[in-house]
Amino acid sequence: MTGEKQSGDTGRYFDLWARDYNQAFQETGTKGNRLQQAVNTLFRRKTFRLRMQQLAEILHGMDLKDKDVLDVGCGSGQVSFLVAGQCRSVLGLDISENMIRICRENLEKLGIPGNVQFRVSDCFNDPLPSADVVLCIAVIEYYRDMPGFIRKLCVSARETLILCDAKRIWWRTWLRKALSLARGFQVFYHDAGRIKEEAAKVGMRCERDEALHSFRTFVFRRDA
Ligand SMILES: C[S@@+](CC[C@H](N)C(=O)[O-])C[C@H]1O[C@@H](n2cnc3c(N)ncnc32)[C@H](O)[C@@H]1O
Repeated sequence: MTGEKQSGDTGRYFDLWARDYNQAFQETGTKGNRLQQAVNTLFRRKTFRLRMQQLAEILHGMDLKDKDVLDVGCGSGQVSFLVAGQCRSVLGLDISENMIRICRENLEKLGIPGNVQFRVSDCFNDPLPSADVVLCIAVIEYYRDMPGFIRKLCVSARETLILCDAKRIWWRTWLRKALSLARGFQVFYHDAGRIKEEAAKVGMRCERDEALHSFRTFVFRRDA
């Protein structure tokens, strides 16, 4: 299966359910598609809460005031908003037009200052702009060619890459497999050691590797 097919299938899935995805960042008050609400309850809500807390802790420990940040596969923009107040600029890219539409609506609703931009882009197949800090949260799990994607992300990161990947939990793995088969996209579970090896090949050292709940977060820094 080609990268174009994987990005097309994944993009279509997220495009269709972008609003339901965005709702999983709220603790209560969900409405919409029944299956997606079950997905929010089973897979997303707790993961998102813990992941956002962990990312906030990592990002707040960094001095980003002169830094440009790139959020690869930004979804509905929540991670971009988390970092926006702290850095010089944020560019969020996503393959899904509906996700980018929601990012822009959220941007207006939240009254975030003017240093955040969102654009539609296929980050797996198209060239990636460079940035001081690259964030790639919950995206590589949709791609078989992890080495190629990791190399691309590392090349784009001038200083730091923060990456979140899915962790294998047997019941979630099976349920996600069933969902992905039914909805025509794929999920891949990558080996943490191999991710670090690939990053090391392009000069990025793993400074932090922490598994929590259903995900694993890595912080890579460019070797001096
Ligand atoms: C699980 S969501 C994660 C969103 C966001 N990073 C977050 O933490 O909420 C995965 C996102 O990656 C996007 N995506 C998948 N493949 C992509 C690609 N090739 N280029 C850009 N975005 C992509 C999807 O459209 C979706 O919005």
